[in-house]
Amino acid sequence: MAKYATWLKDEKQEVSMGEQHKPFWQCMINKSVETSLSQKIVLDFGCGTGGFLRTLYAEHPFKAGVGVDLAESSVDMANRNKSSMPLEYYVAGSAPDLSNKFDVAFSYEVIYLMPDLRAHARFIANSLKEGGVYYAATGCHTANPMWEEWKKVIERKSELPCTDYSPEDFVAAFEAEGFTAAGQQLGFDGFVPLNLHPEYYPTTQSSINYYKRDVIIFQFTKK
Ligand SMILES: C[S@@+](CC[C@H](N)C(=O)[O-])C[C@H]1O[C@@H](n2cnc3c(N)ncnc32)[C@H](O)[C@@H]1O
Repeated sequence: MAKYATWLKDEKQEVSMGEQHKPFWQCMINKSVETSLSQKIVLDFGCGTGGFLRTLYAEHPFKAGVGVDLAESSVDMANRNKSSMPLEYYVAGSAPDLSNKFDVAFSYEVIYLMPDLRAHARFIANSLKEGGVYYAATGCHTANPMWEEWKKVIERKSELPCTDYSPEDFVAAFEAEGFTAAGQQLGFDGFVPLNLHPEYYPTTQSSINYYKRDVIIFQFTKK
């Protein structure tokens, strides 16, 4: 798989994306993490500049965390910013063997970028321990009324093509690879910044609806 420096072609935008995602990561964490992670090993697939695991560790300290991403500069930034937290970040394909390693895996706005969902589900199945759970959040799917426009913007600004996946496509791929599927809306109920990205959000209501309604947190449990 091709590697690149940062997923967004503009490195400054890549860094600010990490900062802007923080309240939504916190919402995902609040809805997903039900028990202590103190003895758990966690994966962040598509970790970008690494902020998700730093946010998770601050709220739910875990035994060890690994992030993987195709973006080499983002992974470097993640490693530079991990301070004393038990974190390791790797460029995808250069990580040590991750088989049967994780109790919990997460991804935020990544699964829609997978060219082959079944292959991704197989990778996650292989990385999780028996009974492990993968929480994958995305609003980039065909049930998002803005998706057709978003796809063009994302493909112009980033390094990867997008696929038109429906929420049902994600579920079908993971079920076919031996997971049970559940889901809920992100249901973010804080204040959403407005007019930050007019190219994505044509109206105020659409910004609010996205984080309240369109982003789905999938919970895929390995049988
Ligand atoms: C929209 S960004 C989200 C980044 C981060 N999860 C966040 O919430 O800020 C999608 C990320 O997925 C990464 N990605 C896409 N395909 C990948 C793959 N096959 N393996 C690892 N990372 C991938 C991209 O490089 C990018 O950093």
